[in-house]
Amino acid sequence: MIAIDGPAGAGKSTVARLVAARLGYLYVDTGAMYRAVTLKALREGVDPGDAEALARLVRDIDLVLEPGAEGVRVRLDGEDVTAEIRRPEVSRAVSAVAAVPAVRDRMLELQRALARQGGVVMDGRDIGSRVLPWADRKIFITASLAERARRRQRELAEAGVHASLQEVEAEIARRDHLDSTRPHSPLVQVPDAIVIDTTGLTVDEVVTRVLDHCR
Ligand code: DC
Repeated sequence: MIAIDGPAGAGKSTVARLVAARLGYLYVDTGAMYRAVTLKALREGVDPGDAEALARLVRDIDLVLEPGAEGVRVRLDGEDVTAEIRRPEVSRAVSAVAAVPAVRDRMLELQRALARQGGVVMDGRDIGSRVLPWADRKIFITASLAERARRRQRELAEAGVHASLQEVEAEIARRDHLDSTRPHSPLVQVPDAIVIDTTGLTVDEVVTRVLDHCR
């Protein structure tokens, strides 16, 4: 079990997906799970601040992560929502939804069930600290805020969403703050994780470092 944590836009998902492919492991993108819950809430008109309604919403949510050639596909109630969960309105609301204890407890169950299937690379914010504290390897991936904003802006542009660098940077900083200061399983760097600062590194260089650490 390999746990990868870090702030928004540090490159965790790209690296985790490639590492999983190289090792023949399952890749679990836990951020995508919180995003899918958020999308469901937005669609059903549930306020991201309404903890009780969110608890009801996740109780029997039908959420499936399907490994595919181009990465993981996310299915919500049978519908492929892989692209939709990356939309800016989901990004804006996701930290509030992810701060709700009932939502986190339900995701924890689903995440641990996925990890029981065998070799797994799981990325998120609380994987090494809470979801899989017994992981064999823990990696904390980070990068400067400016670099993370540049990468996220590029990603958004590829998806046809245009936002200024300033806007993207402010959004990431806001999310980092919310994710790190929430009372329930915040983003933390656990002492037994190795830290990789990806500022100025290529994806290949980061993947090689992670694989070296895993060997
Ligand atoms: O990695 P991402 O940007 O797709 O994650 C979306 C949000 O989900 C992030 O702002 C915080 C939340 N999240 C979380 O609270 N715990 C996780 N394990 C993964 C994501």
